[in-house]
Formats: sequence, structure tokens, C-alpha cells
Amino acid sequence: MNDVVAESNKPLKDLPDMPTLVSLAKRRGFVFQSSEIYGGLNSCWDYGPLGIEVKLAVKQSWWNAMTRLQDDVEGIDASILMHPRVWEASGHVENFNDPLVDCKQCKARHRADHLKPVKELEKKLGFLPKLEEMAEVLAGTACPACGTKGTLTPPRLFNMMFKTHMGPIADDANLVYLRPETAQGIFVNFRNVQESMRRRLPFGIAQIGKSFRNEITPGNFTFRTREFEQMEMQYFVKPGTDTEFFEQWRQKRFEWHTSNGIRKEKLRFHPHGPNELAHYAKQAEDIQYEFPIGWQELEGIHNRTDFDLRRHGEFSGKSLQYVDTADGNNKYIPYVIETAVGCDRAVLTVLCDAFRFNEERVVMQFHPNFAPYKVAVFPLMKKEELVGPAQKLYAELRKHYKTDYDDTGSIGKRYRRQEEIGTPFCVTIDYDGLTDQTVTIRHRDTMAQERISIDKVHAYIQNAFQNWS
Ligand code: GAP
Repeated sequence: MNDVVAESNKPLKDLPDMPTLVSLAKRRGFVFQSSEIYGGLNSCWDYGPLGIEVKLAVKQSWWNAMTRLQDDVEGIDASILMHPRVWEASGHVENFNDPLVDCKQCKARHRADHLKPVKELEKKLGFLPKLEEMAEVLAGTACPACGTKGTLTPPRLFNMMFKTHMGPIADDANLVYLRPETAQGIFVNFRNVQESMRRRLPFGIAQIGKSFRNEITPGNFTFRTREFEQMEMQYFVKPGTDTEFFEQWRQKRFEWHTSNGIRKEKLRFHPHGPNELAHYAKQAEDIQYEFPIGWQELEGIHNRTDFDLRRHGEFSGKSLQYVDTADGNNKYIPYVIETAVGCDRAVLTVLCDAFRFNEERVVMQFHPNFAPYKVAVFPLMKKEELVGPAQKLYAELRKHYKTDYDDTGSIGKRYRRQEEIGTPFCVTIDYDGLTDQTVTIRHRDTMAQERISIDKVHAYIQNAFQNWS
């Protein structure tokens, strides 16, 4: 029998701004500032007990979609430190630069290509102006941070790769880089994977791992950081079929985001114009999400042509040509369609999209796959006769999914906390239930409460998750 008890259900609004999320994330154990007790380290963040659950779920969802459900994609895990020649071949030593200007007055640092006069000139020219041209238009410009005019230095190029040294001697001979993208670990393993797994084209290689970029202007919480995790896949195809596969992957990747419960109207494609293309790309399209800071890139899909494999062939002296036995032993260097999404940015998207609030409550309306706890169990009061059966139910449910147990404070407060951490269901054991073996199950999003039999709780939740919309 259903026993629906209505609570006040005022309309809920979306996340208003990033600081509101930063504050909830800290208060509820999703994300903390790195080294906070030392005043923090700019742009570095730590995932707390609940944040790591969301992050692991995002990775699991991506890994399943890209490898387990994709029988033409293999997974790998390459090392962060690679041979320094990799980054010469990839073009990162030469091209992975941003133009940087400093304000002599307030010492603020800006990316020159993000400043209005440079953007306007770029629009007029149709491509990024040269450094001298940027210097000219920036000469009388006011610093966006302090407003003083004529204090910006001429722009200079700044390579974004982090450098370190391998071994005890810190000299140029031992210079190595922290990888700025995971993709290169895949390119250098193309031959290993193809041969060991007896793959024919087309096939892909997927990887999740850390990347590092010495960004000039990191910020907006975990949106742009200097250490971040990427989830990338390189799909190797016969030249000439690349446009068709680009189309397929761009569609698949969009659908992955919506299948995770991200609202479709908050996602859109953004094709790159010729002056936005990375040094390796022939065609590129971003999937953007409408964050509280506006529409921003969440994922990039690139047609990298044969650029990387060709260059690695040239620089290593090891041919990365593919012999196409289905095409009369024709030899060619495969083209690559790449899908690249930031794991931390995908987590940030899940957090932003889930956030709802009104004057009375904040509720994280996660898709159940991303909710840190799937269910919470409460005895109505901390009395032995209620705690016993509640603990028993908790022990049973935690075999199936991450379950919380809480017997402190009023039931109302316990509900509010579970709403803030996005637990889809709360189950309360009360005195009535002791006589008829029932519990009250409360839905996070509708706040509706139902009385169900205690031995049906698991089946009820499982069914609700399977039919979640
Ligand atoms: N291998 C291609 C590549 O790395 P990208 O567009 O530079 O392409 C891919 O990066 C994705 O990685 C971006 O769409 C974004 O989600 C994430 N990403 C890039 N830089 C980031 C940063 N500084 N902080 C957080 N995420 C970043």
C-alpha cells in the first residue's frame, strides 16, 4: 500500500554561479583545494570521499562505452614520462605555445590572444596575428586586472609543457616533459597494440590518464587546471574514410553525454574555424556545455590525419605504415579520428548539471550512476529496537551498492543532507514497520514517500534505477 506524504515542493532553480558549487563541494566532501592548510596551490584540487565516487563513475561509464561496448577499441595505460623526442615529433616543443603578456603595474598575467584588441584583429585578419602585430594593438590597452593603460609588456611565446629531469643530474641531457596530452602514449603504441591484438583497420585505442599543462590563466574551479585527467581515444582508419568516421564519432560522443543524464539543451556542437584548429588537425568540433561561466568546451573531436604517425615514423626511424591485406597489400599511414574529453571537466559537468536549489533546499539530482551513495538507511530514532533492523538492512544493501547509514539528528535534517549529496533514495525504519516488516522509502527528486515491505527494498531500488529517465 502506498502512503504518500507530500512535502512543500517549490520549484527548483539551476546552479547560479561557480562559487556556489565550490562551497557545496567543500562542505559536503566532493572537492577540496589542494594543500589548503598552506593557503592552497593555485588551480590544484583534491577529490574528497564523495568526489572520488563521482569521478570513478565517470571513468567507468567512459571505459564501458569506449572499450567494453565497442568491440573495435582496445584500452591501454601508458606512462606519463615519455622519450623527449616524442614531443619534438608531435610538434609540442615547437607549437604548444600561448602568447603571454604581463602587466608591469599589478603583475597580472594574461593570454594575449584572449584580450579584446587582439581578438578583434584576429577577426579582421581571419587568423591569429603575429607577435609584433599583437604588441602594436596592445600598446595603449588597459590591463583587464587593474585598469591601468599602457602597462602591458609585448607578448612573448610561452611553452605550456612542464619540464623536469630524469635522474639525479638536472641538465639539458636529462630533460623530460610531463605529457600535455595522453594521445601520444597511444600513437607510440600503435604498432604494439595492432600486432599483439591482431587488429585490422579500422580500430581504436582508448586511455584514461593524467596530463599536465602550465596554463597561463587556469581557473573556474576544476574547469581549467594545470594537472588534469583526460579520457582519449584514437581511432585508426584508412585515408579517405576519415570524414565518415569523424561524423560517426562526433554523434556517439554527444550521445554518451546525454546517456549520462546531462540535459540535451545544455549541450551543443561548436565546429572549429580555420584559425582555431590545433597544429595537428584538419577538422575539429567541440562538444560544449553551458556552464555557469557560459558555453565552454567539454570535449574535442579531431581529425588528426596521418600527422602523428607520420612524424613518429620520421623521428624514430621506425615505419608506422600499415599493410592493408584487404586492399592488395596496399601500404599507407592510417588517419586518426580522436575523441578527447577531460575527465575532471566531465565530472564538473555532472556536478553543474545536477545542482538544483530553492529557498529551502539544495538537491544534487545526479543520474543514479553518478550518485556517490545510491541509498541511505535511517532508524527513525537511535533506539536499539530500530537500530538492529536498520543495521541489518544496511548490511544487506551495501553488498549491492554504496550505502550510507545515519542515525544522528532529526529525520528532516538527515533528508536534507542526503539531498545535498544526491542520494536517490532514503529508507527509514520506524515503529509501525517493526510490526508489519515495512519501511518508508523516500524519493530524492519528488520527495514522495512510500511504504514498502523490507525484503523488497533492493528489488525496488534496482527496478527504479533500471527505469530511470
Ligand atoms: N589530444 C587532444 C587534446 O588534448 P584538447 O582540446 O587540448 O585536445 C581535450 O584537450 C580535452 O581535455 C578538453 O576538451 C578538456 O575537456 C580537457 N582539458 C584540456 N585542457 C585542460 C585543462 N587545462 N584543465 C582541465 N581540462 C582540460
